[in-house]
Amino acid sequence: MFVLDNWHEGANHINGSAGAFFTPSGLAGDFAIDACGGRTIDLCAGIGVLAFHVFWRGYYARGQGAPEREIVCIERNPAYVEVGRKVLPEAKWICADVFDFDLRGLGHFGCAIANPPFGATPRSGSGPRYTGRSFEFHLIDIASDIADYGAFIIPQMSAPFEYSGVQCYRERKSEDYLKFAEQTGIHLEAGCGVDCSYHRDVWRGVAPNVEVVCANFEDMPRNKARSPTDPEAELRALWTEKRAPLDRQDAIIAEVAAKAKAGIRFVEPPVQADLLAEIERSSSKR
Ligand SMILES: C[S@@+](CC[C@H](N)C(=O)[O-])C[C@H]1O[C@@H](n2cnc3c(N)ncnc32)[C@H](O)[C@@H]1O
Repeated sequence: MFVLDNWHEGANHINGSAGAFFTPSGLAGDFAIDACGGRTIDLCAGIGVLAFHVFWRGYYARGQGAPEREIVCIERNPAYVEVGRKVLPEAKWICADVFDFDLRGLGHFGCAIANPPFGATPRSGSGPRYTGRSFEFHLIDIASDIADYGAFIIPQMSAPFEYSGVQCYRERKSEDYLKFAEQTGIHLEAGCGVDCSYHRDVWRGVAPNVEVVCANFEDMPRNKARSPTDPEAELRALWTEKRAPLDRQDAIIAEVAAKAKAGIRFVEPPVQADLLAEIERSSSKR
């Protein structure tokens, strides 16, 4: 905790233009409430302030003796990684650029977390869908491909709402946010209600207005089709391959679920075969 509170990211590094401002410990502790747990990846980890709080909150929440959940930290600056490895040796540290590293090769994560550089900070690449200028949106776009859920600290003006430091919560979506949501299909939401303005004056060298935003990536069609363990997702992957539209998939799933709820018994393989035949019939009509 002493290192996290006192190691100055700008002492030996030009941190301003790199957008490297570490999260105050108090804010990271509050933020950890919104990180849902599971196998976690911190994208742009710095010396690991967020990862440290998320890891140890998860450790105590699980109770002693429960198996440890893996946490992976990605950070580009080797000096920060060197400190991070000592602060949180429990994490797997990788010194790499998030835009230039095979993140998918690390497997799928339950949760992605980040306090990334903000706005037009220079970057070596882009997210797969978003084409705007905000670093935070490119990073969230990338996260949506490798995790089921994400929690992020982003500038208040990039969040789809204002909550921190104002009298009451209100929605307010910038043009850039609307573009991000339209291009990626991702909708950011408020977390459990951390007012980040309490910590505004303890960042080092800046006093940013930020919000904690969360996103459920699991519900996105592209991820539903990817999950290897969920039978519904397997079916959806098959249907997507056969070009069945999403609303049709939803209708069939709802019908099968309703039948199951009503106690109508069916044998799994023939039902699937019937459904596929129905899809093929309806897509050949179009
Ligand atoms: C705002 S700081 C936050 C650090 C840490 N997450 C925290 O909360 O204290 C952003 C970090 O991202 C790192 N960074 C910037 N661009 C990166 C990239 N393309 N890949 C990996 N790390 C990057 C910076 O070196 C910096 O440590």
